[in-house]
Amino acid sequence: MKNMLVTGGCGFIGTNFVRYLLEESDFEGRVVNVDALTYAGNPENLSDIEKVFPERYVFVKGDICDKEGMAHVFDDYEIDTICHFAAESHVDRSIVSPDAFIRTNIVGTFNLLELARKQQGGLELFHHISTDEVFGSLGKDGYFTEETPYRPNSPYSASKASSDHLVRAYHETYGLPVTISNCSNNYGPYQFPEKLLPLMILNALEGKQLPVYGDGLNVRDWLYVRDHCTAIWKIMKNGKRGDTYNIGGNTEMENIRIVEMVCDILDDLPLPKRDHSRRELITFVKDRPGHDRRYAIDFTKLRRELGWVPEESLETGIRKTIQWYLENQEWVNRVQSGEYQSWIEAHYGK
Ligand code: NAD
Ligand code: TYD
Repeated sequence: MKNMLVTGGCGFIGTNFVRYLLEESDFEGRVVNVDALTYAGNPENLSDIEKVFPERYVFVKGDICDKEGMAHVFDDYEIDTICHFAAESHVDRSIVSPDAFIRTNIVGTFNLLELARKQQGGLELFHHISTDEVFGSLGKDGYFTEETPYRPNSPYSASKASSDHLVRAYHETYGLPVTISNCSNNYGPYQFPEKLLPLMILNALEGKQLPVYGDGLNVRDWLYVRDHCTAIWKIMKNGKRGDTYNIGGNTEMENIRIVEMVCDILDDLPLPKRDHSRRELITFVKDRPGHDRRYAIDFTKLRRELGWVPEESLETGIRKTIQWYLENQEWVNRVQSGEYQSWIEAHYGK
């Protein structure tokens, strides 16, 4: 793995993964980060990395659906490994306007697979990042395993399911060396504040309402983003080619409980005093259509075969996340005000 194409490296998980690869892991090659810089992509996340690793980090503004542009990236940088994060990732947006999800998540992935199979000199690995949402919704009991049939319920999860099938098919049909990981809900530094945890943290800090969908009893498993990064890198190095691995945090929790946890942690921190607990900001709002009731992950395969376990508990992970948002107010301001997008236009054009 000398020249790794990371797609979507300016998004939440991609940013954390590029940082992990270059700052912490034993990867010795070069990262070529291709990102279209949608609303979710912020190249400022990696501006320090660009300075510290000028020989080992390259950023290219590009769209994975652009065949010609991506062909140049493959040629120019002699790509031998791919870690594919780029996607439209937010379920609520996929309900309002699914088009971009079909385009990027399905057509974009297909485009990369085509380039990968034709790559001169062969490709060492195509690692595809996916979600547990492809498995649909669980009842009270049971867990998603790698054998659980696909049953996606939202345009987002259906588009991810479709891309997973394409990746698998390219292994079976063309012998492309692939690995796939399906993980649970990530949280941690650099997450765009439309997802549950950063939204609740920032709203609670600002004294705004905390909108909980439906009865708040939907269950998610929460994976601290650095734990996700260590798992991806283990799978990329030692995972069986053609195989799928589930990644989870062992932290199932009802939404309402996680929001209460955020409120309680914030109430205990030395922040400007409030008259009432932040729990009073919780507001139950109309449910999301097709809202999956419960996700829970069985990651026995990853633990047994590759010896991976998550390091963070939900409590330690949420505390770290809150601390990061408190210490990075400037990042929050630029993202919330959209200022980072003016910076992108000034540097890269519209
Ligand atoms: P994100 O929305 O924060 O980042 C996505 C990145 O992809 C952005 O930087 C965006 O600019 C880029 N992008 C979008 N369309 C593109 C295109 N056409 N060409 C090039 N770049 C494009 O997403 P994330 O939360 O970091 O998720 C990364 C991956 O992990 C996605 O594939 C997502 O489906 C998967 N995933 C995420 C979670 C989660 O909890 N966040 C859970 C499971 C799986
Ligand atoms: P989200 O972060 O959007 O991730 P996903 O839909 O991919 O699981 O939402 C996590 C859970 O939180 C999900 O059950 C929906 C719920 N939710 C709320 O109750 N309120 C909110 O404002 C948001 C964004 C999500």
